Amino acid sequence: MDKYSLIQRPRRLRRNPILRRLVQETRLHPDGLIMPVFVHHGQNIRNEIPSMPGIFQWSIDRLGEEAEAILESGIRSVILFGLPEKKDAVGADTWNKNGIIQQALHFLKKNYPELYLITDVCFCEYTEHGHCGVIRDGDVDNDMTLSNLAKQVKSHAEAGADMLAPSGMMDGAVLAIREALDATGFSHLPIMSYTVKFASAFYGPFRDAADSAPQFGDRQSYQMNPANSQEALREAFLDEKEGADILMIKPALAYLDLIRAVKEQSTLPIACYNVSGEYSMIKAAAQKGWIDEKKTALESLTGMKRAGADIIITYFAKEAAQWLKGV
Ligand code: PBG
Repeated sequence: MDKYSLIQRPRRLRRNPILRRLVQETRLHPDGLIMPVFVHHGQNIRNEIPSMPGIFQWSIDRLGEEAEAILESGIRSVILFGLPEKKDAVGADTWNKNGIIQQALHFLKKNYPELYLITDVCFCEYTEHGHCGVIRDGDVDNDMTLSNLAKQVKSHAEAGADMLAPSGMMDGAVLAIREALDATGFSHLPIMSYTVKFASAFYGPFRDAADSAPQFGDRQSYQMNPANSQEALREAFLDEKEGADILMIKPALAYLDLIRAVKEQSTLPIACYNVSGEYSMIKAAAQKGWIDEKKTALESLTGMKRAGADIIITYFAKEAAQWLKGV
């Protein structure tokens, strides 16, 4: 054996827990985690989502229970998804003053001012057809959807949103939203764009949670092909140019290479979305006793951080914040 191979002994720095932590390169912290929250129309609702154990749909009258648990865990940011009373062809609930998200924003701002409120800006939960915009000739019409996005963000901003997160993958969405916000006195509100969002099977459980499965076809004409990475960099370039403040990659685990690639291309903060399927796989295997839930969840989140994510949206946020207290 080459004698020099044993002069360099990487194990020297692994011998002692204090030393291991001293040389640790990546650290998770609750400040960088965002918890998704599903708000459901009606009253006295706390429905556990069967495919997402531990995640609930909440009606506004019970939303305080979840807000308190989130704050108690140490998490300060939430991203809101709505299940409206009525769906229609265009998703008009999204710009209704009394829409489900607007009600949630008013309630949370008033009662939990210490929570930072991000809204998912999309249409799929609000349209009968379950697609992320206006349908024309059997497909989502990009530019008609942009004008509805402008109405939606203006309404969210008026109701108290702190940040807007467009998730529909429409071309020009960030610019349309930036202009709409700037024209209505909300130039200070940041946009976290779902910049690189793939047409992924990992969204399966979310579509139960948000009742947002497309009623015909799929989302491949607007969400990206999982095989592409050059296109991801192009999306990132465009969103940055259009005025995005934070770039998101979604899903996370199968796309760690792109978290890293976008991080290297941009100086903006990078977020990733640890999506429903990624959460449910760990929960299900843990329920069967096949893996250690806490360790696999924290290891996954650490991997996202190591890949370059400054911010992680995760259904584990609340639990992870609790676990991190013991670390
Ligand atoms: C669209 C949206 C989706 C998710 C977040 N925003 C679903 C989709 O694109 O079909 C998925 C999140 C997850 O799977 O956890 N409004």
